[in-house]
Amino acid sequence: MIVPTYNEAGNIAALLDELFALRTRERTGWDLHVLVRDDRSPDGTGEIVEEIASGKHRGKVILSRGTKQGLGKALELAFAEALDRGYEVVMTMDADFSHAPVDVVPLLQAIESGADVAVGSRYTPGGLIPGDWPLSQIVRTRVAGTVARGVGGIDPGLRELTTNFRAMRRVVLESIDFDRVRARGYGFQIFLANAFTTGGWNVTEVPISFHTRAHGVSKASVKDVLEFVRIAVQLNDDSPFKQLVRFLLVGVSGTLVNLGSLWLLRQIFMPEDPVGDRVWLLSAAAIQISILWNFIWHTAFTFKRYRRVGGELGPRQILVNLAKFEGASALTQTVIFGAFVVFSNLGVFYLIAQALGIVIAVAVNYWVSSHYIWDW
Ligand code: GDD
Repeated sequence: MIVPTYNEAGNIAALLDELFALRTRERTGWDLHVLVRDDRSPDGTGEIVEEIASGKHRGKVILSRGTKQGLGKALELAFAEALDRGYEVVMTMDADFSHAPVDVVPLLQAIESGADVAVGSRYTPGGLIPGDWPLSQIVRTRVAGTVARGVGGIDPGLRELTTNFRAMRRVVLESIDFDRVRARGYGFQIFLANAFTTGGWNVTEVPISFHTRAHGVSKASVKDVLEFVRIAVQLNDDSPFKQLVRFLLVGVSGTLVNLGSLWLLRQIFMPEDPVGDRVWLLSAAAIQISILWNFIWHTAFTFKRYRRVGGELGPRQILVNLAKFEGASALTQTVIFGAFVVFSNLGVFYLIAQALGIVIAVAVNYWVSSHYIWDW
């Protein structure tokens, strides 16, 4: 068990007593050792642990000391030490009693029953958050979850993304490339959650009860929030947010290609007669060019995961997708026209009516493209 500490002098001795009173060996078959990773806490946490490690819980408590570089770094270094020491299962929990020691047992039992990772979850049925938990905390974890899934692309199947209460088999930790994301602070939690869900591991969520910390104060800061978002952005190329941004970029470029090719076609075919009665032909050609442009970029860029997951695309599948995209584009035009008729009849200024139609049509096109064309 890894317990990271920074100024936890009021909690750590009682926590260690409660952990060893659990008698995990009898109840789960696993012996418990606690590695306290303390970053030179000025309140003397390290000294308290040192005394316990050479006295009351000798041989069961290990003190590891470092310099303060944030919770993520403390955990990363403690993982390396735990692996060096040869532990088969590595757990983490907070020192401040926000995680109940009794929940260690079901987490270990989940590993015993075959899970590679057991995540202590407040949001799984049976999980509890404190009645006096401030609304700001609830909002913070909910927003964090939404950012982690939407921006980070973490598997929505995992409900708990931000607690530090978990058990992992050593193979899971050995497989994680910690160099990929250098998270010092709280972003480390979603980095780990992502590694669990993308690594092909058997991940189980175990309901836990979460409590308001017993003593001391939370170390989370605005910097941690920014770090969290930064890590989320770095995590997965296929997150819904990044996919949508790519879709919009391609859409904007397609509009420019449409206008540019219309201009070019006119220069080539009707240099003298820009408003001649066959100019609509050029408009139709420009639309087709931009549809083709968008199709190529959506396949190669926007929905690149489609190719990765679905394998190489054969010519038949490409043609089927193109036909579907032609249909989606026709639908888009219809939606813009329909919305224009409705909004302008409601008295909306005509340019705004058209703009609203475009916004709705882009949303419809994205939905059709991601669900019916480049769907995996
Ligand atoms: N070694 C070390 N170094 N430990 C640290 C550091 C650090 O820089 N910063 C925090 N800790 C320890 C604390 O002493 C505590 O045991 C644990 O990490 C969690 O720190 P808190 O400061 O109490 O966290 P929190 O209450 O803001 O955040 C909790 O909720 C977050 C979101 O749900 C923790 O469970 C976080 O892990 C979680 O991400």
